[in-house]
Amino acid sequence: MRSREASQAELASFQGLWPGGFFEGDPSDPAFGLWGVTSFLGVSHAVYLGCCKPYVNPSTVVLEIGCGRGAWTKLMLHARKLYCLDALSAEHNRFHEYVGRHSHVVYIQVQDFSLREIPLDSIDFVFSYDALCHVSFAGISEYAENLFPRMRKGAHAIWMVADYGKYNAFLRRQAQLCVLNALFPRRDLFLLRGLQRLIVSGIVAWNNRRYRL
Ligand SMILES: C[S@@+](CC[C@H](N)C(=O)[O-])C[C@H]1O[C@@H](n2cnc3c(N)ncnc32)[C@H](O)[C@@H]1O
Repeated sequence: MRSREASQAELASFQGLWPGGFFEGDPSDPAFGLWGVTSFLGVSHAVYLGCCKPYVNPSTVVLEIGCGRGAWTKLMLHARKLYCLDALSAEHNRFHEYVGRHSHVVYIQVQDFSLREIPLDSIDFVFSYDALCHVSFAGISEYAENLFPRMRKGAHAIWMVADYGKYNAFLRRQAQLCVLNALFPRRDLFLLRGLQRLIVSGIVAWNNRRYRL
């Protein structure tokens, strides 16, 4: 253990730093990042890090609902087995072109919400992103009912479902949430803020046209 003097010298080295107390911004502000525009990562990547990666290992049996071309599937290929369900065929989704062919990956084009192809008490992790938000509440409920007996004790399920209130609030707040609001974080660059507002409103308008909002 180092000496008490060494500890005190380390603490003393901070004295006088950051007058008024360190404060770079409010972490509850979605446009605040300590390193300005280079502080940000995409929502999908954050979902991957927080909601997908921690739950998949070589002994996991995964059920993915609404896999599309397999953007998320490909990140879970180290699982023991993957059941990938979609309303569209693998050919339509060009699933195997993107994911490849693997003996432990089973693609199923669903005809209903019964999940009959999935063995009971077999699934460790259920993942569904940007799929159930396109499905009716009745369909989601049917999936949930039929899923429960197929999940093993202690299994996890991460589902993205639609929340129209949150979605509409996001659309209304696009200009505030834009990452480019962090372009000129320093107060002495306030003259550039007008340019920043112009860029942000242009991007929001372009987004709205692109997604026909
Ligand atoms: C917007 S895509 C998202 C694909 C993928 N999850 C992703 O994030 O890249 C939605 C997918 O859900 C599928 N889908 C729609 N209704 C479904 C249902 N009831 N069961 C399974 N898949 C469904 C669609 O065919 C489509 O491939």
